[in-house]
Amino acid sequence: MEQILRNFFLFLSKNKFFTKLAKKYGLRFGAGRFVAGETVENAANAIQQLNQKGMAVTVDHLGEFIDSKEEARQAADECVEMIKKIAEQNLDSQLSLKMTSMGLDISEQLVMENMRKILDAGEKHGVFVTIDMEDYERCQKTIDIFKELKEEYDNIGTVIQAYLYRTVGDIEELNSYRPNLRLVKGAYKESPKVAFPDKKDVDENYKKIIKMHMMNGNYTAIATHDDEMIQYTKQIEKEHNIPRDQFEFQMLFGIRTERQEELVKEGYKMRVYVPYGDDWYGYFMRRLAERPANVAFVIKGVFGK
Ligand code: FDA
Repeated sequence: MEQILRNFFLFLSKNKFFTKLAKKYGLRFGAGRFVAGETVENAANAIQQLNQKGMAVTVDHLGEFIDSKEEARQAADECVEMIKKIAEQNLDSQLSLKMTSMGLDISEQLVMENMRKILDAGEKHGVFVTIDMEDYERCQKTIDIFKELKEEYDNIGTVIQAYLYRTVGDIEELNSYRPNLRLVKGAYKESPKVAFPDKKDVDENYKKIIKMHMMNGNYTAIATHDDEMIQYTKQIEKEHNIPRDQFEFQMLFGIRTERQEELVKEGYKMRVYVPYGDDWYGYFMRRLAERPANVAFVIKGVFGK
């Protein structure tokens, strides 16, 4: 049943009609639990509150399925505005973004133009930018863009997904760039031709890449809510004397907030991924797919409580 629900929500997450409808009608159905609000101000307030609790942030202006150059440029301008806001209010926050929102499905040249604008602003204001990883179809293109931009900028990182068969090879290949990588299990619906269908294989591969990237001496963000993976990271830290300024934990806004606070108390760096904006639908559906128990929030949302 859980697998059916998971596939159902991942299917819904790609629906362009619902995406547009959601934008029009604003945050609904309990999505406010996972999305900090619709404006830059809402996001800045959420960041400030997390910073006060000793947590760093990476903020994401939500956006997928961009159809026009104009929309992609607007999305890039939003990112620049957010970077300026971070600097102006002296917030402890990085920025995350998706290549499709920068126009990846339109042209790579457009993405590069938008990315350089954002990375220049990030460089000027000391804000690090992470390129989120989307579905498999866009994985190679995203890695190629990352590599090209990494030759020009220091303030850029990307994400590697443990569920893909290619992942260990990517970690090996990217090592020469000394990259700051966020490691995740992977959130999209992929074919068994390219991704492990069984959770236990994904978990095993996740542990493998955590160890590889940390032992290579690269900065590692372990982005998971899974205690087993957190425990494993701590084990690697102890066994191999990895300094605490070489890695951090990351979790999503609104998920396992108590655990986030505990990790801060234990002296670990904790970064919360804070999404905001009116294009919340696809992100929200992927969160429901990860944990169908969250559907209870939707039902409450639909029935007004
Ligand atoms: P998993 O879903 O296997 O859950 C493991 C355990 O964690 C559960 O059994 C439970 O114990 C606990 N848990 C999980 N959710 C919980 C909840 N709501 N409440 C209580 N316990 C809970 N993906 C991607 O493809 N590209 C990307 O760029 C990113 N970026 C990203 C950034 C950050 C900061 C995070 C945390 C995650 C991503 N992801 C992502 C999403 C990622 O790929 C993955 O889908 C989710 O993190 C869920 O996987 P977990 O590792 O949390 O474990």
